[in-house]
Amino acid sequence: MSTTESMSFDGFTTLYDQTRSFDPICFGRSLDWLATRFPPRQFRSVLEPGVGTGRIVLPLAGRGYQVTGLDISEEMLGVCVAQSQSMGTGGVLHCLRADATRLPLSSGVFDLCVAVHLFYFIPDWRGAVREMLRALRPGGALILLHTGNGAEVPRLNEHYRELAQALGYTFPTYGVRSTRDVVDYAASLGCAVERAEKPSWEWTTQVSARKALSHLRARAYSFTKDVPEDVHGAVMDRLQRESLEGAAGPDSAIHVPNRISIVIVSPPDQTNEGNTQLGQRDIPEFGDRKPDEVYVPRPGAYGLILNGEGRIAVMQTPRGDFLPGGGTEGDESPEETLVREVREECGFSVEIIERLGEAAEYRSTAGHEFSIRKECVFFAATVGDECGATTEADHTLIWLEPHEVERRLAHGSQRWAVRQFRPAS
Ligand SMILES: C[S@@+](CC[C@H](N)C(=O)[O-])C[C@H]1O[C@@H](n2cnc3c(N)ncnc32)[C@H](O)[C@@H]1O
Repeated sequence: MSTTESMSFDGFTTLYDQTRSFDPICFGRSLDWLATRFPPRQFRSVLEPGVGTGRIVLPLAGRGYQVTGLDISEEMLGVCVAQSQSMGTGGVLHCLRADATRLPLSSGVFDLCVAVHLFYFIPDWRGAVREMLRALRPGGALILLHTGNGAEVPRLNEHYRELAQALGYTFPTYGVRSTRDVVDYAASLGCAVERAEKPSWEWTTQVSARKALSHLRARAYSFTKDVPEDVHGAVMDRLQRESLEGAAGPDSAIHVPNRISIVIVSPPDQTNEGNTQLGQRDIPEFGDRKPDEVYVPRPGAYGLILNGEGRIAVMQTPRGDFLPGGGTEGDESPEETLVREVREECGFSVEIIERLGEAAEYRSTAGHEFSIRKECVFFAATVGDECGATTEADHTLIWLEPHEVERRLAHGSQRWAVRQFRPAS
């Protein structure tokens, strides 16, 4: 049985870090290896989709990387942000609620992308792989990191599965069964793959049988998430009985071999024209783009709107003068966005005459978590009918002669759009 939705880890935060622990020395060595191979000075910006509680990105931020973490789980992100603040890494860690299969990020902006225990939970895991490769700049790399079993006892979990299946339960499959699937898929896209495993990244965890059972009973592991309560209860009672009756007893220590492994996936040369799978949009860019800044794309539509006297509509706001328009909502087309935005801002309908073009505006937005790349489609349009009250209290509509407009506008992309307009003579 397979599902179509990714598995959110909402509901897992309480025991997550405790049950996914690793040997700090071995983990530290693997990160040191990574930082030598990809020095933060040359590979500064790191993206981790499925960031969870920040188990991986917080130590990376501590090593000088500028990290962006995103996750579909609000609760996991909440823990990540809280841990980042208590560790004092707030300045180098951005968190964002988003889906790895639809990254709300520009193409080619990250030096590294890290995926840790993620693709098991995403039905469209191939889409997620492609998105991560798209987010990388040429020469960047996707790192697949495996941190071992944590406090899990694999053979106990396997026994849980067998007992639940014997009671008629079928475990759903969300994403891949093994990292091998991801590696094979990346190779089929033309990526080079390199595996790193070191004896100094191996250790043995000792878990008491009692503790392992208590984690299982508390559903600390994702594979128990969908098991109905009656099946879960019956399985746990049986495991408990077996543990009490077993020769070793419930307080015995179980030894679990653990190791960290790293796979480096290097995308093909993106200047190769044959490789269109990772696509990047090439449009004129304005604003002050800072090299180290992460910009979230904001699609929108704006209009050069003419009235019957040939004057052009401009919105005066406390932040400057702008063409009417704004950000896209949901699945709107740019045309629909313009019509809705103008209705809300100006209180009239518009008739679109022509599409003037598309341009990007980089804005570092003080007070917001992310800076944005406004991806704006510009139209020429004429005023239609009045259609009710406006909703933007601090916007005032003024009408200017065409030659006055360009010098008044605050954004370079809007001034560019004015220059694209050739009024009919
Ligand atoms: C096993 S946890 C791994 C967390 C972290 N990478 C770590 O190793 O500690 C998987 C995380 O992926 C998130 N996740 C699952 N599907 C996702 C998706 N489509 N997009 C973003 N995050 C996703 C879950 O909410 C969860 O926080």
